[in-house]
Amino acid sequence: MAILAPSILSADYMHFHEDMDRAKCDGAKWLHVDIMDGHFVPNITFGYGWVKAMRKITDLTLDVHLMIDTPIKYAEEFCKAGADYLTIHVEADTPENIHKTIDLIRALGVKPGVVVKPNTPAEAVAPYIEKVDMVLVMTVEPGFGGQKFMAHMMPKLKELRQMIDEKNPGCHLEVDGGVDLITAETCKENGADVLVAGSAFFGSKDRPAFVTAIEK
Ligand code: DX5
Ligand code: ZN
Repeated sequence: MAILAPSILSADYMHFHEDMDRAKCDGAKWLHVDIMDGHFVPNITFGYGWVKAMRKITDLTLDVHLMIDTPIKYAEEFCKAGADYLTIHVEADTPENIHKTIDLIRALGVKPGVVVKPNTPAEAVAPYIEKVDMVLVMTVEPGFGGQKFMAHMMPKLKELRQMIDEKNPGCHLEVDGGVDLITAETCKENGADVLVAGSAFFGSKDRPAFVTAIEK
């Protein structure tokens, strides 16, 4: 069974609390939180104070996606703020520091994950596969919601599903970017079990049906 992670990047910021509660009523079990620093990606979003505030008002699984340079500098703050999963980009630091950051996240009791941008091959995940709880494949260039799904990421997704099945079967395989009810099916066929959806979920006229369709 798949899991839907609504991306609160697409929520109504003036009714943020309401949108979070509503996502729970709609049946969502996770929330995806996009952290952008204006360096690693050309956009700026939320800081760890935001995650801390969210943690106070929800028991949903907080899936925090760090799109920031040198995540080792900030990982501890996001763990303390209450992230359940903390995913870092393999492109954001040296392999040595990516290993250290994963170990730090784990030591703080949070589930670590690694993310790959569209131009980063599946092999870039290999050094970390046995020590993470989630691998995230970007199906758009990170930075903005509402972009077009990149179907040509599917061979990479399939390759990572094989790698996970061989080396770390308990690890989640997540997709993020341009996921709607149609592209979600393609992602699931290619091995994804966690699907992030921002604009398609928050723009849906029937959100409970959206959750059911993704998680069936
Ligand atoms: C993009 C973010 C996504 C974004 C997805 O950089 O990582 O999580 O919210 O938005 P949609 O689903 O609208 O493509
Ligand atoms: Zn994201």
